[in-house]
Amino acid sequence: MVLSVASLRKQFGDATVLEDVSFRIGPREKVALVGRNGTGKTTLLKILAGELEPDGGSVSFARGARVGYLRQELPVDHGLTVLEEAQAGRAEALSMAERLKELEARLADGATPDDLEEYATLHERFLEAQGYAAENDVRLVLARMGFDECEFDKPTSALSGGEKTRLALARLLLEEPDLLILDEPTNHLDFDSREALAKALAETTGTLILVSHDRHLLDSVTDHTLDLRVDGHTLYPGRYAEYRLARARAEAETQRGPRPEPRSGGEDRPWNPRALSKEVSRLEKELAAAEDRVAELESELAALESTLADPPTGADLLELTSRHGGLQDEIARALAYWEQIGSELERLRAMQGGAR
Ligand SMILES: Nc1ncnc2c1ncn2[C@@H]1O[C@H](COP(=O)(O)OP(=O)(O)OP(=O)(O)O)[C@@H](O)[C@H]1O
Ligand SMILES: [Mg+2]
Repeated sequence: MVLSVASLRKQFGDATVLEDVSFRIGPREKVALVGRNGTGKTTLLKILAGELEPDGGSVSFARGARVGYLRQELPVDHGLTVLEEAQAGRAEALSMAERLKELEARLADGATPDDLEEYATLHERFLEAQGYAAENDVRLVLARMGFDECEFDKPTSALSGGEKTRLALARLLLEEPDLLILDEPTNHLDFDSREALAKALAETTGTLILVSHDRHLLDSVTDHTLDLRVDGHTLYPGRYAEYRLARARAEAETQRGPRPEPRSGGEDRPWNPRALSKEVSRLEKELAAAEDRVAELESELAALESTLADPPTGADLLELTSRHGGLQDEIARALAYWEQIGSELERLRAMQGGAR
């Protein structure tokens, strides 16, 4: 178990944001943390990252586990250059490399037994930390997150919001923490960096908790879904898309009430079995198309949000903002439609079951 959260509670003034939140996350699990705006996702992550104290309950990590956290707000500026900031992600290996170089110089002109011993011990640790690859890894990850060699000496204070986020992600990826916590990492990212991030996250072997509006990112990276709702929370052992389907099914089930006794032809419309199965497969296609439509709109929304977060000069902000509102409405409609088809499909499948 990497992380165990028990009966967590947090309130701001009179408002209780987290109440009796409990879950456990195992090694290598990649968890999508979802929930409407303001349900407490960031609050939960800040507690996990040690930036906020809970009012009750407990958070425990596997012994020695290292946690890496990307905040929802812009990353902190440490007054370094791009290269230095990324190197800080492999600080231990790089400082060992320097010490080894010093010792090597001493070994060349007569070393003491202490020097020799230090060298041997340090070299072993250096190998364990994949030290020889560190410098190269730094450059590789920076390139992957969209940085050109000619930008390496730029001070981080001169970076745009998107560049700051990309750099913070590069550093975290280099740190390879046991638990990586990312709160809306794509907010300031363009399409290419989002793809690069998705690839990097899919490849990491560490444990991950990810909050993102980008459904494509969630579904291509995560394998568990933690849904925070006002009325409680659920940790579902499947991707977000699977979770939503399961939830839509459960809701359709509740709305329909208990499954009716099988009856022959007593439904509101007379279906012969062949027509019924034809309609079921038509609806299945329709459901898949509706799902694709929602995903497409959501990734358009994510792209638009990153443009809005870091607008190019001369952009028509009014136009962009109005498109943003329009897209949100469109997504709400597409989701409602998707859910409607889902429950209709459920109804017909139940009839098929009943007719058998
Ligand atoms: N420091 C604070 N003081 C008072 N209220 C706060 C504080 N931080 C958050 N809140 C409130 O707690 C609730 C949860 O906020 P939080 O930022 O955790 O939600 P969220 O799920 O991350 O939302 P979003 O999806 O918009 O990022 C909100 O109602 C917010 O206004
Ligand atoms: Mg948040």
